[in-house]
Amino acid sequence: MFITFEGVDGSGKTTQTRLLAERLREEGREVVATREPGGTELGERIRDLVLHGGDVTPWAEASLFAAARAQLVDEVIRPAQERGVDVVCDRYIDSSLAYQGVARGLGVDRVLELNLLATGGVLPDKTFFLVLPVEEAVRRRGGDEDRLEEEGAEFARRVDGAYRELAAAFAKRVVTVDAKQPTEEIASFIRGELRDLS
Ligand code: TYD
Repeated sequence: MFITFEGVDGSGKTTQTRLLAERLREEGREVVATREPGGTELGERIRDLVLHGGDVTPWAEASLFAAARAQLVDEVIRPAQERGVDVVCDRYIDSSLAYQGVARGLGVDRVLELNLLATGGVLPDKTFFLVLPVEEAVRRRGGDEDRLEEEGAEFARRVDGAYRELAAAFAKRVVTVDAKQPTEEIASFIRGELRDLS
């Protein structure tokens, strides 16, 4: 299985990525857990540039995320798929569609096209979109903000709206999860949703 987690910053997807990987391993499955941007040496360097560097124009931003993703697919995701191993990833293409395509206004179709080229069309089997009221997510983040988090609540609201539209557009792949529930309950729900894949 190739599973991804999406949501605004502070929605709890990093925790759920970790918990799903742990559960699958407890069941005896081999799991590669990774994150975006990052997950490879080049990807982590791009992460630093795009999140903690200076000014980045919208298309430079989209291209840098796509470059990190291309490297992750070739180095980590495709080899794991070829070995028959599960892949659990904290963010993937939908992040670019929501943040760059909608919130930055580059257009979902164009950003999708860029990313399909970069990844060779590798898409997740299931995507969990963790939904949390934006104010609550911003509060949960704490103080240490990266360049995209600094855009503030209005930007986060655009991202949130974009994810909701994507969830409707890709209804077969994307499962919407109420992130206000207790962490363990969310983890059990997510594992349950994957039963037909594993
Ligand atoms: P994330 O790793 O979730 O943040 P952290 O772990 O620091 O809380 O994501 C980093 C930021 O990058 C986040 O604000 C979303 C943004 N992002 C995009 O804008 N486009 C993308 O394609 C990806 C993968 C992330």
